[in-house]
Amino acid sequence: MHTLRDVQCCAAEACSFRRKEGPLPNKSFKVRALGAAATLLAVGCAAGVCAAAQSMPALVQRHGRATLMVDGAPYFLLGAQVDNSSGWPARLDAVWPAAERLRLNTLEVPVYWEQMEPARGVFDFTVVDSILAQARVHHVHLVLLWFGTWKNGKMHYVPDWIKADTATYPRMLSKFGVPIDVLSPNSSANLDADRTAFAALMHHLKQADPQHTVIMMQVENESGSLGLVRDFSPRAQKIFDAPVPQDVLRALHRSPGTWSQVFGPDADETFAAWSVSRYINAVAAAGKQELPLPMYVNDWLKSPRGYPILTIPGVDYPSGGPTVNMFPVWKAMAPSIDILAPDIYVPKSENYRKVLGQFHQPGNPLLIPESLGFEPFPGVSGYARPLYFALGDGAIGFANFGLDRLDVNRPLSAEMLAVANGYALLGSFTPELAALKFSGKLQTAVEEDGVAQEELAFAADGTPLALDTTSAAPSEPVGTAWRVIVSFPPAYDRPAPVSAASSTRSLHEGRAVVAWLGPNQFLVAGIDCRVQFALPVHSAKLPQMLKVEEGRYDGTTWVPIRLWNGDETDYGLNFGSQGSLLRVTMGSY
Ligand code: DGJ
Repeated sequence: MHTLRDVQCCAAEACSFRRKEGPLPNKSFKVRALGAAATLLAVGCAAGVCAAAQSMPALVQRHGRATLMVDGAPYFLLGAQVDNSSGWPARLDAVWPAAERLRLNTLEVPVYWEQMEPARGVFDFTVVDSILAQARVHHVHLVLLWFGTWKNGKMHYVPDWIKADTATYPRMLSKFGVPIDVLSPNSSANLDADRTAFAALMHHLKQADPQHTVIMMQVENESGSLGLVRDFSPRAQKIFDAPVPQDVLRALHRSPGTWSQVFGPDADETFAAWSVSRYINAVAAAGKQELPLPMYVNDWLKSPRGYPILTIPGVDYPSGGPTVNMFPVWKAMAPSIDILAPDIYVPKSENYRKVLGQFHQPGNPLLIPESLGFEPFPGVSGYARPLYFALGDGAIGFANFGLDRLDVNRPLSAEMLAVANGYALLGSFTPELAALKFSGKLQTAVEEDGVAQEELAFAADGTPLALDTTSAAPSEPVGTAWRVIVSFPPAYDRPAPVSAASSTRSLHEGRAVVAWLGPNQFLVAGIDCRVQFALPVHSAKLPQMLKVEEGRYDGTTWVPIRLWNGDETDYGLNFGSQGSLLRVTMGSY
């Protein structure tokens, strides 16, 4: 278990995100798009999105739980990321129908350094402004992804004037002096160039986005190096051969020595992580000086299939990135980065959940900025599950990668339909969902291959109780007030009139969200499953449903539609492939 810094903040304090006014590192920006900001404000206001400057989005952690706060309320980031080359106004047009179908509240869109700073110190924010305008029209928040020094362990998004000038902006070098297409993280010229550009972006957002359409920033993309484990240039080697800095030793509880002496076989990768995390921290800190939005880095997993296998840093995954083995270095060296977040392309659900567990640590809220989902591998199923795993694990947000691939103008495959319906169900009540999740009284049950039934347990005050699933005869947790038994097709007893009609039941991707609303009252959102409420096994009483109301949310206001009874409740609550939202009041006799 790593010992990580546990940032304790509360909404009122939003302590680590207090606005710090400070000068720009480079005041001589030549901004081409000044007029655009004013136009954008007008567009946003016309769409009813902006009235006045809103409160700063913040990351809040309380009682071991975390949430984003947006406009002063808990926010669950129900998101998707567009393809790499889709952060362009003309291209973005194509993704809005899919965003609408999924009822996303957030879109993740790259900002390209090469586009934004076409010549040194000359900034062009027209593309960013256009993305802001589109998002406001579609009532969607943005997470902007800074494709700067690093993109997937390479430097492909740096401006051409940097690529061309290797003397000023040095590359990483091999032991034999051979350069690779990754900028050296041990060069102050590289760092200065990146942080100046990123600070300019944040400075621009401060002016162009008072309503905080942008709620969070991703700093770089899958940082670290592919091609070398670390920089072996004479400049980097000199640092590597020197004693490990005191702050590193203190943070990692090590005794003094050189990098090789202190870290042995892990010295190269640890040095890389130290170099990259300090660099990115400086970029993020310069950005926060301008606009203190929450900021995170995304990680290319060290174990791509979700279980430990022998992988080589710099070969199988970018060396120096925020992989779990480098967490302590990153947490110590990058305090301006709020979250180390995994990009999860792990098809097997058991392994997927393991990755969630690795990244969800004290002081590191869970965020999945990229997940497999819109482009199924042939023959692989289960793409609708991860969102519900993440939610149940307390994630502050989740995004599938590659929204462009979801063509909602054609009939969706059963697999993509399951994904879309799962998103849309949650998207129909994200404000309430976010509040319930942050209250800690929400659980999910997700069907997995070969698992016909799952059980959840709640205490009388709604506290989720963990079932011991390790022993052969699982025992009921002490203090259980309500058991919630979620069964998945085809294990239903007949009749199951709603689910029998489900077109996606053969996928085995049933899902349920169960949240405690008050004594004996629950909100249940389900797809392709049957939910039954039961009293503790040895209770002297029997359970009964007092009222089962189907409805929808208008903001956080519950709007009843009809009561369920008869076939819809006599054998349990049967949820079909579209999903339904129920308020259930239980009693006993
Ligand atoms: C992870 C990267 O972060 C994304 O930008 C994208 O390249 C995907 N992998 C690949 O689909």
